[in-house]
Amino acid sequence: MALLSALTPALAALLCVVIGFLFVKSKGSGVKSQAKNKDFRPWVDQDLQDNSNVLEKDDDDAEDYNEEEDIPHVPYSPPRYPEETMAMRSQDFLSLMSQRRSVRFISPEPVPREVIDNVIHTAGTAPSGAHTEPWTFVVVSDPETKHQIRLIVEEEEEVNYRKRMGDKWVQDLARLKTNWIKEYLDVAPYLILIFKQTYGILPNGKKKTHYYNEISVCISCGILLAALQNVGLVTVTSTPLNCGPQLRLLLKRPANEKLLMLLPVGYPASDATVPDLKRKPLDNIRVHI
Ligand SMILES: Cc1cc2nc3c(=O)[nH]c(=O)nc-3n(C[C@H](O)[C@H](O)[C@H](O)COP(=O)(O)O)c2cc1C
Repeated sequence: MALLSALTPALAALLCVVIGFLFVKSKGSGVKSQAKNKDFRPWVDQDLQDNSNVLEKDDDDAEDYNEEEDIPHVPYSPPRYPEETMAMRSQDFLSLMSQRRSVRFISPEPVPREVIDNVIHTAGTAPSGAHTEPWTFVVVSDPETKHQIRLIVEEEEEVNYRKRMGDKWVQDLARLKTNWIKEYLDVAPYLILIFKQTYGILPNGKKKTHYYNEISVCISCGILLAALQNVGLVTVTSTPLNCGPQLRLLLKRPANEKLLMLLPVGYPASDATVPDLKRKPLDNIRVHI
């Protein structure tokens, strides 16, 4: 009996270690078995999963309501260019956008805030389903918040690379030489996190349907990328898998907002390199009927 009571703390500690080991193992094998399932698509099925609102006010219970307002229609006459000018402008824009690359080495040099505000303002000119403008652009320049974002992203990305995404994903990315270390999240002067608003809240507190909110926000992101290219800034389009809920809470965004994209923004580092990728020729992407 005396021997048993002396052993009890040691036995309890051993038991905890064994239970802990079994728990970690079962979690890991769950991720692995999901990755082996050929129908499992973590970049779709998990990326947009966000149950982080379960402890918050359940806005989903709010009554759906759409504004019925009569808006006047006004004349619209944008500039019309001669055909040669159109050809020249289209060629100039093509040249500009052909130089766009995803850059993962960003300089810490400061960028004027006005420029960032203007490119976001430009992104906000995107069309949106029923003109709902279902986007929020969170601009982070505070070093401590950037670092918190980096910690969250790197922790999840390590799981993506090591377990969640499976061998094929890791092989497909190998030629880009990316990994879970994201130094640019500390270094870039700005991080722009783009949230889609899955629904809106009207001044009377009622819920407003945001039609096609994801497509609308993606169009807006495309315009943002073009606007950044136009001013000589760089970014890398990133969709940090499984980080949405944590980043939303860190940035204190409401439950109707889901993270869609994270763009580190700045000048390219002086020694930046990019993979020498080739783009499909026009004949491979365009069909005239
Ligand atoms: C939806 C989407 C998600 C992406 N996610 C990542 C990412 O998480 N990390 C990364 O380094 N690059 C990411 N990229 C960048 C692509 O790897 C890059 O666009 C592609 O290799 C082509 O290179 P380019 O942008 O220089 O033309 C993403 C691009 C898109 C469009």
